[in-house]
Amino acid sequence: MDKIRIVGGKKLRGRVEISGAKNAALPAMAATLLTPETVLLENIPYVRDILTTRTLLESIGVNAEVPGNGTGSFKAADVGALEAPYELVKTMRASILVLGPMLARFKKARVSLPGGCAIGSRPINLHLQGLEKMGAKCDVAHGYVEASTAGLHGAYIQFETVTVTGTENLMMAAVLANGETVLDNAACEPEVENLADMLRAMGAKIEGAGTRTIRIRGVKKLKGCRHRIIPDRIEAGTFAIAAAITRGDVEVADCNPKHLSSVLSQLSLVGVEISMGETGFHVRGHGGISSKNMTTYPYPAFPTDMQAQYMALMTQGDGTAIITETIFENRFMHALELIRMGADIKVEGRQATVRGGCPLMGANVQASDLRASASLILAGLAAKGETIIDRVYHLDRGYARIEEKMAGLGAEIERIS
Ligand code: EPU
Repeated sequence: MDKIRIVGGKKLRGRVEISGAKNAALPAMAATLLTPETVLLENIPYVRDILTTRTLLESIGVNAEVPGNGTGSFKAADVGALEAPYELVKTMRASILVLGPMLARFKKARVSLPGGCAIGSRPINLHLQGLEKMGAKCDVAHGYVEASTAGLHGAYIQFETVTVTGTENLMMAAVLANGETVLDNAACEPEVENLADMLRAMGAKIEGAGTRTIRIRGVKKLKGCRHRIIPDRIEAGTFAIAAAITRGDVEVADCNPKHLSSVLSQLSLVGVEISMGETGFHVRGHGGISSKNMTTYPYPAFPTDMQAQYMALMTQGDGTAIITETIFENRFMHALELIRMGADIKVEGRQATVRGGCPLMGANVQASDLRASASLILAGLAAKGETIIDRVYHLDRGYARIEEKMAGLGAEIERIS
């Protein structure tokens, strides 16, 4: 199993190019099931979750090509098994995204229930309730959701909690349903908007994506399209913190700074110098870091997917910061590993109190999930001596060539087998 070795203490300098967003590419790949025509997706990141989704689509009968770099091609003309098996779903919960499209186009689907997850219980009740309101029958048996419908129809659906993949799943179901669907309290993440752009290019009628209310008027069929995946705002934010924590000077290029305005304004607040551009931004971390509280919320607020990385930064703050996680109930696993590196963090329920000013020391640590892995890399970059991060398969799920990109900025980092 691969590990990442870092020798900390180098200031990162230079320019890094951001890859396409995993969390935009995953629903886009699922949406290719909605048409028998060819769909081309540009800027797909070459990460493990994308390859898992390719395998899933292939097992359903989609002709899917995902080259190492660039544009993927998908054709769902001869779809056979309308099933997402446990073996794939257990490694990637986003597999649930095929449920809505399969039900909409083929009127049935069998998708394994996602099991436990390192960051929280992550139920899919809101996906199922919404589909049932649209005329689907969803039974849960033997660990699978067995869903069928005589034909989906429009419905008014108000989410009791903001759910990103729930919004995406129901939007994909609604585009081929009979009549109008309104999704209220919908997620407004840029990834949802990017999916709506793709669906519109396929011929769907959608208004309001990117706001809390999305209106979808179903159409009879959808066509192929060419669509570009947005840049990964979480990868961009991770590199911004890498520059800040090493007191470096980094240009984060090929991204949309507007998608991470909450992260960048929080970084400015803690004393990091940020200059904004149209398609990138510049981070200079020459001063000290002030400790500031932060609470995660759905977009446009500070994202839960940047919480672990922010915690790494706060270990280097000048005071105490309280970090509150409101999205997932168990997303502080990285705290225990950061403590092993010398950090002073106390976790109580959904709050972590981080006392800054403790020098980090290299150590052997274990990644517990994707963003936790990123936070350990950041801590390793700032730590004195050598850090070895185990279980980096979590990292490989969502970061494209992160060690190469970090090394390109001058970090002493390598992958070891
Ligand atoms: N929830 C329910 N019922 C549901 C669905 C969600 O109670 O049916 C709850 C969840 O338990 C959670 C909250 O709603 O407490 C929000 O979860 P959400 O459904 O928004 O999460 P998700 O769609 O499963 C996506 C991203 C995550 C990201 C979250 C929050 C993808 C593929 N995944 O997950 O990304 O953390 O939104 O922004 O888009 C990551 O990339 O590391 C990652 C975990």
